[in-house]
Amino acid sequence: METILVVGATGNIGVSAVTTALRSERNVLAIVRNQDSAKKLVKHIGSSEGITFAEADVTSDTGLKGVVDQVRAGKLPAFQHVFTCVGGDYITTPLSTITTSQLRDNMNRGFEANFFAYRDTIGYLVEQGKPATWTLCTGSQGDAALFALPALTQGPLYSLATAAARENEATNVRVNELYLAFRVEVDTDAAQHGVTSATEFSAVYKQILDRQDVRSSRVRVEAVGDITELRFQKKF
Ligand SMILES: NC(=O)c1ccc[n+]([C@@H]2O[C@H](COP(=O)([O-])OP(=O)(O)OC[C@H]3O[C@@H](n4cnc5c(N)ncnc54)[C@H](OP(=O)(O)O)[C@@H]3O)[C@@H](O)[C@H]2O)c1
Repeated sequence: METILVVGATGNIGVSAVTTALRSERNVLAIVRNQDSAKKLVKHIGSSEGITFAEADVTSDTGLKGVVDQVRAGKLPAFQHVFTCVGGDYITTPLSTITTSQLRDNMNRGFEANFFAYRDTIGYLVEQGKPATWTLCTGSQGDAALFALPALTQGPLYSLATAAARENEATNVRVNELYLAFRVEVDTDAAQHGVTSATEFSAVYKQILDRQDVRSSRVRVEAVGDITELRFQKKF
């Protein structure tokens, strides 16, 4: 059975990716910052079956490396896919009032953690030599910039996805960017706020995993219909 390593597993998008994994009979290696976060994930999913939890600080430049070292040592399950979606604050603070520490904290969580998720897992995926995927969730705020702070983190994520796709165009790893243009929340919150649920959205990642023709692409999810009819375009 395959295993998906999910970075940002406890958030709205991470819960969706975990749902994809479990519904497609794959296991999950969920990176969590502490036991409270692990409990939050179990509450959203309804069970811990099929999920191995690994505690790590994904915002530090050694956190994920430590997890991969444990996988190599056989202490954690081998994985064939990586999905990453660590996020910063989703707030409307105008540019002129963003503090330096707020900026650095958001770039650290919203960009650096996802960069580490590439840098520190890709070597392992390539070494395995088997069909593998590496997927990054980005948001259209980077283009629309209606919310300035989250927008700032998305621009570099677009570039990360393109550079990662270029580096793997000829490897065993299909790298893709999942570009999302509307709000997705864990099921209970989605019902309250009238937005798309993590469970509904999970169909997108399922198709990315299953379709060998989705490679080095931006998968655009800009309307609810795009969840079932995948729209994607090669990046180069
Ligand atoms: N949700 C959407 O509708 C949407 C739309 C477009 C794009 N996106 C993209 O998806 C990303 C994630 O969105 P989301 O809604 O899933 O965000 P979220 O619910 O806030 O989840 C963020 C994830 O990052 C983790 N995280 C945040 N700060 C951390 C820290 N200091 N240390 C360790 N882990 C930390 C959280 O862990 P904890 O649970 O432990 O806090 C959680 O797993 C966004 O930033 C964006 O790039 C989302």
